[in-house]
Amino acid sequence: MKNNQLLLVSRPLGIPKENNFEVHNSEVNPLKSGEFLIKNHFLSIDPGMRSWMAEGKSYINPIRLGGVMRAMGTGVVVDSRSPDLKVGDFITTDLGVQEYALFDKNNITARGIQTYLYKLQDKIIPQQTYLGALGIPGMTAYFGMLAVGKIQAGETVVVSGAAGGVGTVAGQIAKLKGCTVIGITSSDEKCQDLVNNFHFDYAINYKTPNWREQIMAISPSGVNLFFDNVGGNILNIMLSCMAKGGRVIISGAASQYNNMAFMRGPANYLSLIVNRAKMEGFINMDYYDQFNDARIEIAEWIKSGLINPDNFVIKGGVNDFLEIFNNMFAGKNTGKMVMQLKTLN
Ligand SMILES: NC(=O)c1ccc[n+]([C@@H]2O[C@H](COP(=O)([O-])OP(=O)(O)OC[C@H]3O[C@@H](n4cnc5c(N)ncnc54)[C@H](OP(=O)(O)O)[C@@H]3O)[C@@H](O)[C@H]2O)c1
Repeated sequence: MKNNQLLLVSRPLGIPKENNFEVHNSEVNPLKSGEFLIKNHFLSIDPGMRSWMAEGKSYINPIRLGGVMRAMGTGVVVDSRSPDLKVGDFITTDLGVQEYALFDKNNITARGIQTYLYKLQDKIIPQQTYLGALGIPGMTAYFGMLAVGKIQAGETVVVSGAAGGVGTVAGQIAKLKGCTVIGITSSDEKCQDLVNNFHFDYAINYKTPNWREQIMAISPSGVNLFFDNVGGNILNIMLSCMAKGGRVIISGAASQYNNMAFMRGPANYLSLIVNRAKMEGFINMDYYDQFNDARIEIAEWIKSGLINPDNFVIKGGVNDFLEIFNNMFAGKNTGKMVMQLKTLN
């Protein structure tokens, strides 16, 4: 059986380009004892992938040059010599940008993302939801809002990157907990989507010059919690909008990942003193042992209509990864950007 794999062959400078990758066609070897083979169906397209392409360790090791591009995914077991998984089981783990992924369960960490392997249990929920609201984005939103942000009913919460995978879920969790929720995104169309389809109270287009004034008009005494997915200028301006005792939760900085050599820090940080406010970063993996309970709770919210889990699904082969990845940074997605894999040949 043939497998098309996308290899990272050089480290990008700025926006990743075609010459950073190569499609490699190889034969899938017969399975050894303990191994299992997954046919990949959906791949998660994450801003964090940009940091995995770079040299140097961040919260996980970089992808090695010549290695398969790392990607969380879902797929089905098509062959198994492992007692833990049988043909027909659906799983999610770090499958990589390839058509098939060969694993030894004991060695699942080899490709990089911790010991995160989850057998999809709930047959009603579509498998791509395990890359969005029930996957890493959902876990990030859940623990960022509840465990780190400790949101309280009645608070005003602002989410940047609000129309993204983490942002849509983070905003909806704040809403169902009784907060007033304002989303920040890049177009009027995406703003309407947030209010009409993702339960946000308000949505603000950061490309309009007076967007700070719009936030202050909604919340004149300031923002209690800012959940930041994008960093840069939006973080800087939001620091000047905080209420007394406000919390700034740093989930990520998507606006900076393609230009890490010239990272912009927030100039308005003295607002933290004036407002007795705090700024705190976190990594979802620190809550790994609580993921199952969080998944159960979020699945209930989805089934009762409190959370819209819609992803932004694009069909493509492994050779289309780069275009889809760069489109995510350009803000083409509303909901989690997910690639539905089609086999090349
Ligand atoms: N801490 C953790 O454990 C953890 C785990 C997973 C993800 N994250 C972080 O969460 C954030 C969101 O991830 P996601 O997977 O949900 O991605 P996403 O938000 O679906 O996609 C990235 C979004 O960033 C926005 N963006 C890109 N460049 C921008 C710029 N220059 N200025 C403002 N906005 C920009 C775009 O939305 P617009 O159209 O609105 O511009 C784009 O859609 C990322 O920063 C990621 O690193 C953190």
